[in-house]
Amino acid sequence: MGRDAHFRVWRGDAAGGDLQDYTVEVNEGEVVLDIIHRLQATQAGDLAVRWNCKAGKCGSCSAEINGRPRLLCMTRMSIFDPDETITVTPMRAFPVIRDLVTDVSFNYRKARQIPAFAPPPDLAPGEYRMQQVDVERSQEFRKCIECFLCQNVCHVVRDHEENKPAFAGPRFLIRAAELDMHPLDARTDRREFAREHQGIGLCNITKCCTEVCPEHIKITDNAIIPMKERVVDRSYDPLVWLGNKLFRR
Ligand code: SF4
Ligand code: F3S
Ligand code: FES
Repeated sequence: MGRDAHFRVWRGDAAGGDLQDYTVEVNEGEVVLDIIHRLQATQAGDLAVRWNCKAGKCGSCSAEINGRPRLLCMTRMSIFDPDETITVTPMRAFPVIRDLVTDVSFNYRKARQIPAFAPPPDLAPGEYRMQQVDVERSQEFRKCIECFLCQNVCHVVRDHEENKPAFAGPRFLIRAAELDMHPLDARTDRREFAREHQGIGLCNITKCCTEVCPEHIKITDNAIIPMKERVVDRSYDPLVWLGNKLFRR
């Protein structure tokens, strides 16, 4: 048996917009994305929302619910008080395209700036060998679904557009950490790159990124802090870096 819920949804585009109120039916077991779809079907046919899998795996449906960055498809209606007004807004750190859809191309630009994984040139395909322990070391980081909720919540860029050129953001600092842990990634010093080109020094360890990650990746503790410590420790000694790589292989 359904009930009525109160929703406030941001409607607008790059030129501006505002919150609009809706009363909409909610049924047992539904998630916020179900309600957005019902709004589209019944009262707001032109409401724009990006989604794909409805299973927490594609990372498309990122938005803010009552101000907190969340996946619309993984946020159960049952966590809200039945009388509560539920406010759904687009991610704040990225430019709005329309309604709940933002332009996340900032993240793709940051991804392209990272030097690709490159094994030692003397290794031919088929000769790559990794120990299971090395596979497991960075397994956590490979769970990332690129929802960009961590990028959206990080205050370094959330309220400071001017920091965007210098700061890669938590998602791409975990990519750096993942490659740094890879024993065959022998051509780029990832820690030096994080310091010089990804702005790791701008992160002041607020851990908001870790709090919103739907994959529960310990972004700050397991990626950023160890990378920061090593950046400071080594103050870039190429021989130490090379020695570490060779030793791990
Ligand atoms: Fe999303 Fe977590 Fe990946 Fe950030 S690290 S993009 S919050 S899955
Ligand atoms: Fe930002 Fe996460 Fe650092 S929220 S400041 S990248 S700990
Ligand atoms: Fe794919 Fe929500 S629709 S993560």
